[in-house]
Amino acid sequence: MSEHIVWHPAAITKADRQNLNRHKSFVLWFTGLSGSGKSTLANEVDRQLFSIGVRSYVLDGDNVRHGLNKGLGFSIEDRVENIRRIGEVSRLFVDSGQVVLTAFISPFREDRDRVRQLFEPGEFIEVFADCPLEVCEKRDVKGLYEKARRGEIREFTGIDSPYEAPLDPELKIDTTSASVEECAKQVIRYLQNNGMIG
Ligand code: PPS
Repeated sequence: MSEHIVWHPAAITKADRQNLNRHKSFVLWFTGLSGSGKSTLANEVDRQLFSIGVRSYVLDGDNVRHGLNKGLGFSIEDRVENIRRIGEVSRLFVDSGQVVLTAFISPFREDRDRVRQLFEPGEFIEVFADCPLEVCEKRDVKGLYEKARRGEIREFTGIDSPYEAPLDPELKIDTTSASVEECAKQVIRYLQNNGMIG
């Protein structure tokens, strides 16, 4: 970074924006294998938050890779950069007084922990969409596991690229058999119990 770049303080603070929105701003960081239900769950939570007037927005792996992170693939280095950028974007969302829900595999503990460090205590809520590989592979919604098994996709998470499950997430949701509504309810309950939303 050039030494001639100086941080410019904002006239309106995060607290001002939170007061205007009448809720806290924070990130719900969903992590889990492909097919574990991260995106589905994040979107359902987003829908429920929207319905009660919370200003929220979903950043989804597949979608962000169409634009902002178009040039990134699935090597370890590219995944690290993918998550670093999403962490920074999430920080901007939180600074703008909004709730951001991120749905990225984010397979590496170290990267998730580095993102956590960008936030104030309580602002980063790690949600583990916990679903065994066998179940995700059986679902194979996008047919990607089959391709990975055939060797048509390399470095596929869970097959020939690692996934490091969170050790101490704020929330661990078993997405194996519960409905998306039930799973979303657990997230909403956590937010209510912790005074994050009304
Ligand atoms: S990561 O690991 O966090 O950088 O990945 P992410 O940005 O979340 O992107 C995951 C989605 O990309 C598709 N896809 C792959 N996933 C894992 N490994 C490989 N090699 C791969 N190639 C393509 C896949 O649809 C993932 O979407 P989800 O929603 O997780 O199934």
